[in-house]
Formats: sequence, C-alpha cells, structure tokens
Amino acid sequence: MFYNTLLLNAISWAREAGAVQLHYFRGNNLDIRTKLNDSDIVTAADKASERLLIGRILDAYPSHSILTEESGDIRHGNEYRWVIDPLDGTTNFSAGLPGFAVSIGIEHHGETIAGVVFAPYINELFHAVKGQGAFLNGSPVRHSAKTDIAGAVISTGYPVDKASGAEASNLDNIARVMPLVRGLRSLGAASLDLCYIAAGFLDGYWETNLHLWDVSAAMLILKEAGAECSRFRSDRNISIVAGTPVIHDRLRQLVS
Ligand code: IPD
Ligand code: CA
Ligand code: CA
Repeated sequence: MFYNTLLLNAISWAREAGAVQLHYFRGNNLDIRTKLNDSDIVTAADKASERLLIGRILDAYPSHSILTEESGDIRHGNEYRWVIDPLDGTTNFSAGLPGFAVSIGIEHHGETIAGVVFAPYINELFHAVKGQGAFLNGSPVRHSAKTDIAGAVISTGYPVDKASGAEASNLDNIARVMPLVRGLRSLGAASLDLCYIAAGFLDGYWETNLHLWDVSAAMLILKEAGAECSRFRSDRNISIVAGTPVIHDRLRQLVS
C-alpha cells in the first residue's frame, strides 16, 4: 500500500537527517542564531537537516506539499503534505545533550497517516502508520498501565515566550501538577515526550505554545499506542495534554 511506501521513505530519510545532525553534534560549527528571543534558536544542523529532507521529498514526490519549521510552507498539490521538524530539541542539541530528534509526519487530505520520530544519538526510531500500531526500533509499543497520578512520571516544557508574563509561563500548571506526581520532568523535545508516552516510559505530558511540526508525527505514534492526546488553550498555538487514558483525563482537569 502507498502509505507503507511513504513510511519506508520517511524512515530512510529520517536516518539520513539523523546522520547530518550527528555530524554537527558537540562540534564547533553549530552557528547558533537566535530567532524570536534568546530561548528560540536555530543552528547549521537544523538548516542542513531541513535541506536534505526537502530535497529528498521533492525529488521523489514533486506534487507533494511540505510544512517545515525553518522554511515554512512549500505548496504544491493538496493531496499529500509532509510536516517536518528537521531538528526537534535544538536547545538540547546546542548544549550537547542527547535528547533531540528529527520528526516527519505525512498527511493525506489533511489527516496524518504516517509518522517517524528518530533520535539519532540514542538510536531510537519510533514509527506508525494509521491503523497499524506504533513501534520503537521495529518492536510494537503500548502506553503504560498507570492509572494513579501519584505514581506517574509526567513531563512538560517551557514555552519560548516564557518570560512574557504569568499567562505564558506555564508556571501555574507546574505548581498544580508537580506536588501530585512521582516525578515531573522536562526533556526538551516535544516529539520525544509524546513518543515516550507511546512506549510507556512516561505516563503523561502537557505543553503550551507548540507548533504542528513538533507534534504531527508523534501524535499519530501516541494514538497508535493506545494513549490519548487532546488540545487545550486555543489562544496558545498548539497546547496539548497527553497520557495513558486515565492520566490524560486527570491531567486535563489540572492544566489550563
Ligand atoms: C522545541 C522543543 C521543546 C519545546 C519547544 C519547542 P525546537 O522545538 O520541542 O521541547 O519545549 O516549545 O519549540 O525549537 O527544538 O524544534
Ligand atoms: Ca520542535
Ligand atoms: Ca526544530
């Protein structure tokens, strides 16, 4: 089926993009530039990874559209669109921390039908095709069995505009959730947060002010692993709560 062909290409190109990331990782040629503010950065590796992915996709599928973080909208046909974060977790990457990934979601008529998230340094490749389950390095994964938030390990993130006031900072949510859970983490790559719920390594997650390229692939992987994900705060781009079905519902009551 064509979706599986698309997936195989996405996996192969994600591995190539991961190799590009590793070429730059912990090196001296990162060329770190700020975007909106000091917390929002792009490196030469983001750009090189994106160049490779755009080239591969358009060579193979010239009629497909692409939405990608650094270059925006590349519009061709309306049938297929690739939604790409060429390097998710750039702050980790720029600091020499291993939690970074390439994320590739594929939409057919607006619905995500395949997703790949590859973290090259730790060699973890997550994938899913709609209706076919979720996989980590080729083995099926499923969300954890946790139902009690007191025993849950949860993660969240800090939005790039965190310094612009209490409304944006996520601190009120952190203050509400942190005392109730076993552990509250911030791993620094939204795509991996969601995939770790899919694999049962995290039990829940929320974050505000994300973008489609951060979550497109991982939201499919998470759903295919039986976990749940929903949006809140329509005023803050993509703000999501995710988790095992029970933890998702409990977290939803806590965050705003
Ligand atoms: C960021 C990461 C991070 C999240 C930020 C995102 P980037 O993506 O996913 O975990 O907290 O909101 O912007 O900039 O590293 O691709
Ligand atoms: Ca990102
Ligand atoms: Ca990025």
